[in-house]
Parts: sequence; C-alpha cells; structure tokens
Amino acid sequence: MGVPIKPSEITPEAVYISRRRFFRDTARLAAASLILSACRPKNTPSPAADASAAYPAPAATGCADELGDALTDYQDVTGYTNYYEFSTDKSGPTRLAANLTTSPWSVAVSGLVDQPHTFDIDEIKALFDQEERIYRMRCVEAWSMVIPWIGFPLKKLLELVKPTSDAKFVRFETLYDPEQMPGQKNSFFPFPYVEGLRLDEAMHSLTLLATGLYGRDLSPQNGAPVRLVVPWKYGFKSIKSIVKIDLVSEMPVSLWMASGPNEYGFYANVNPNVPHPRWSQATERRIGESGRRDTLMFNGYEDEVASLYAGMDLAVNF
Ligand code: MTE
Repeated sequence: MGVPIKPSEITPEAVYISRRRFFRDTARLAAASLILSACRPKNTPSPAADASAAYPAPAATGCADELGDALTDYQDVTGYTNYYEFSTDKSGPTRLAANLTTSPWSVAVSGLVDQPHTFDIDEIKALFDQEERIYRMRCVEAWSMVIPWIGFPLKKLLELVKPTSDAKFVRFETLYDPEQMPGQKNSFFPFPYVEGLRLDEAMHSLTLLATGLYGRDLSPQNGAPVRLVVPWKYGFKSIKSIVKIDLVSEMPVSLWMASGPNEYGFYANVNPNVPHPRWSQATERRIGESGRRDTLMFNGYEDEVASLYAGMDLAVNF
C-alpha cells in the first residue's frame, strides 16, 4: 500500500493461556458481548508446533463473527500479511520474520501519564486477562479477513498508567532494528513505523492489544509479541510489534501520513463512501472467497463507534 509501490505488489510463550483459562474467558465474553462469538478451531496446533506450519481450516460451524461471517483460514491469516519492516510482498514476512526475537520484549508506556511503566511482555500477559475477540479486518487495499484474536482492551493498560488531563492522543511505535528487520533499510519509509489514536478511540472497548490469534501466541509476521487491533479502521492503523506507547497532547504523525499525506489521513476509518486515490473503498475481496462484497461503514462496527465522530466531516477527516 506504500506510496511508491504498485498496487499489484502491495497490497514462546512464558505465560501461555491455559486451556481452562481460555475457555473460562471465552464463555464469559460470549455471554457478555454481542460483538463476540465464541469459537476455537478443533484442530488448533499445539503451542509447541511451528507457527507457520499449515493445518486444516477450522470448522466453519460456530466459527464466525457476529454477522455470521466465517473465520479466515489460519494459513491465510499467517501467510498473507503486510509487514513492511520485512517485505513489501505478502508472503515475504512469513519467512523473513521467522527469527525475530520476541522474548525478552518490553513495551515502554510513558509521556503524559502519572505512572509511566515499562512492561515486560510476560507481565502484560499475566496482568491482563486474555480474551478471544473475533474481528473483521479490512485493509485499505480492499481485501479483508475475519480473525480470532487473543488479547485485552488497551483501555486496561492505559488506566494503569493514568493519563493526565493533558493527554489527548496515543502514539505507538514498532521496534526499530534494521539488523533484524531488513525492510527498515528501505530509506523511502520513515521507520520506525508509528501510528496514533485519539484518546477516546484508544479507550474504546473494541480497541485491543493482541498477543495471539487462533488460540495461540502471535506469529512474528502478524506482529508478535504484541500489536494493536482497531477493527473499525483500515488495517494499517493496527501497528505490529509495539515497543513504545506514549500519551501525547498533539495528533501524532503516522508513518503513512508522513509517506503519503494525500493518501493517508489520521483517522483511517473504514468508509465505503470515501475512496482512496488508488482504491475504491465501496467493495472488498474477502480472502478465501470469490467475488466481492460490499464494504460496511466502520467495517460493520457503526453502532459501537459512530458516536466518536459525531459532527465530523468524514471525507475531510479521512
Ligand atoms: N505494522 C507494522 N509495524 N508494519 C507494517 O507494515 N502493516 C499494516 C498493519 N500493521 C504494518 C503494520 C497493514 S498495511 C495491515 S493491512 C495490517 O498490519 C496487516 O495485518 P496482518 O498482516 O496481521 O494481516
């Protein structure tokens, strides 16, 4: 999706979730929220198995989002990825990210907060109950997936560090390590990858910090060990392999805003009525399906998030 890239080109576990805890959380969540639908594939590989190992798709029955859309195959979720720090090719990150060191890993949370803290990834998994959330993900390149994430609301972490009254935005940063991430040697992109949310977006209960998918730890190509997932926004907002979270007073400039200000705005809400200069956003290609389907306003989460943007012109604030 990068500015100079042709559309055709772009487009471990220290505290592993025990099965018991997983099912407890899943049951609690399914009962508590209309957004979620409990589902776990019968044939999830064991945690010890190779993250990139292929295995049969989960049974579709009962494995769907709240709209009834089936989960995208595990092989597609982990084999068709966007991770420019490794490759601009969809299959490249699976191989090139395989040896990314994701443990030890820490996430420094600071800026306009009363209690800045650097979290070790094991601490993050132990402190915050991990839940399953089945979300649609819609890329601005007009493809989409349905992914069963494991994670927890970002809100819980932010509440722990106590944002001050001056904090208006949250700025996220990916690891910068060109030796491990060869794509960072590409000087066109202003790495490290940066993304941002307004504080109320970050505090929304749908906004997740994900540590896993399909019932197991995140694979490196999907953003291990911890990434953001904001399901009503284009996928590029969901920044991978986060090392830094800062509470700030000014709107952060994301990597995409810096690379292509006419193409990428700060909000990046999924909106079928506002085309990207290179891609209509009216329809999308669901990975694993033939044909195209209509794109839903806010990616189908309109009831939950539209009020965040009341009174705003979404064609201007794209
Ligand atoms: N985060 C980082 N650090 N680097 C990236 O290149 N790509 C983004 C987003 N997060 C990206 C990133 C884009 S364009 C998309 S569509 C999603 O990750 C894709 O997530 P997935 O590869 O897990 O499907």
